[in-house]
Amino acid sequence: MEQINIIKPDDWHVHFRDGEILKAVVPKTTRHFARSIVMPNLIPPILNGRDALKYKKRIENAIPKDEKFKPFMTIYLTENTDKKELKESYKNGSVFAVKLYPAGATTNSDSGVKDLRKVMPVLETMEETGIPLLIHGEATDTEIDIFDREKVFIDKSLDYICRNFPELKITLEHITTEEAAKYVLAGNENLAATVTPHHLALNRNSIFLGGIRPHHFCLPILKREKHRKALLEVVTSKNNKKFFLGTDTAPHLSTDKESSCGCAGIFNAPYCLPIITQIFDNANALSSLESFVSLNGANHYKINYNKSKITLRKNSMQLSFKKSLKLKNAEIIIFQPGFPIYWNVIN
Ligand code: NCD
Ligand code: ZN
Repeated sequence: MEQINIIKPDDWHVHFRDGEILKAVVPKTTRHFARSIVMPNLIPPILNGRDALKYKKRIENAIPKDEKFKPFMTIYLTENTDKKELKESYKNGSVFAVKLYPAGATTNSDSGVKDLRKVMPVLETMEETGIPLLIHGEATDTEIDIFDREKVFIDKSLDYICRNFPELKITLEHITTEEAAKYVLAGNENLAATVTPHHLALNRNSIFLGGIRPHHFCLPILKREKHRKALLEVVTSKNNKKFFLGTDTAPHLSTDKESSCGCAGIFNAPYCLPIITQIFDNANALSSLESFVSLNGANHYKINYNKSKITLRKNSMQLSFKKSLKLKNAEIIIFQPGFPIYWNVIN
């Protein structure tokens, strides 16, 4: 039986939500991952170090007792973010990074940035202080075709940020296109990107397979097959240093997704490591798996690798998936890629 042993992975982009959902989803991430960057798009959003610390406590209370897991907190950048407060919150460890949502780009992003020029002074402070900027890279003008929004954001906004702040540590989150992969590869060493399991597994056909599939709707939206292939190529490449796992696990109640205006977001935490490992195996690239899931992110954020390891085993039988995570009176559908998965984590 084939088996691999790697440094315990990190998930550098998660949505834990709050309340009952938080309690149910946190253990699904902490089972396989040592550390995560937690997104701040709650309602209301996490806007400062004080809110981030309180949210961190709620997350820590949901971690199973026998597991060691570190949540790294973010704040939501607005046109009113106070740079002095941010700097202090970074220095005292309550905030790890800042998330930029263009206003209206995705779930709970209404308080995001409308005019980039208004946040330039905050970005300048972040560059000086070494605070990472995490970006939801999609243009928001509704005139722009939804499949082109990432590319337009790169051309109009990301390039402007990178040119103005070459020393700013930037993560372009959940990239979905060949253009994004190329832009990141061509950028300096401060620019990196996260990639999700669903954007490596699926193309846009799976949103419309025999009917509309709300559980495959996320933002940035799935793209054409050529883009999926381009992402797969960069993450599995032997010299990949700039791309790392950020699952963007984004739980929504099934009733909120199966609706006349269903929300964007895919809940993938329960099986994302088996799925990613299968994808790397199918691409004959298991030797690049550890860089993608355990090393490149830590290198980008200049933090130590995890000390513990995990073992994955390839079974002769397919992994059988639970369809949903049950809550008291609701459920959250779990991401299924639609091809067989033989790998599983065994410790
Ligand atoms: C995320 C969510 O539900 O919070 N949704 C998504 O489709 N990815 C927000 C985000 O990361 O865009
Ligand atoms: Zn996200």
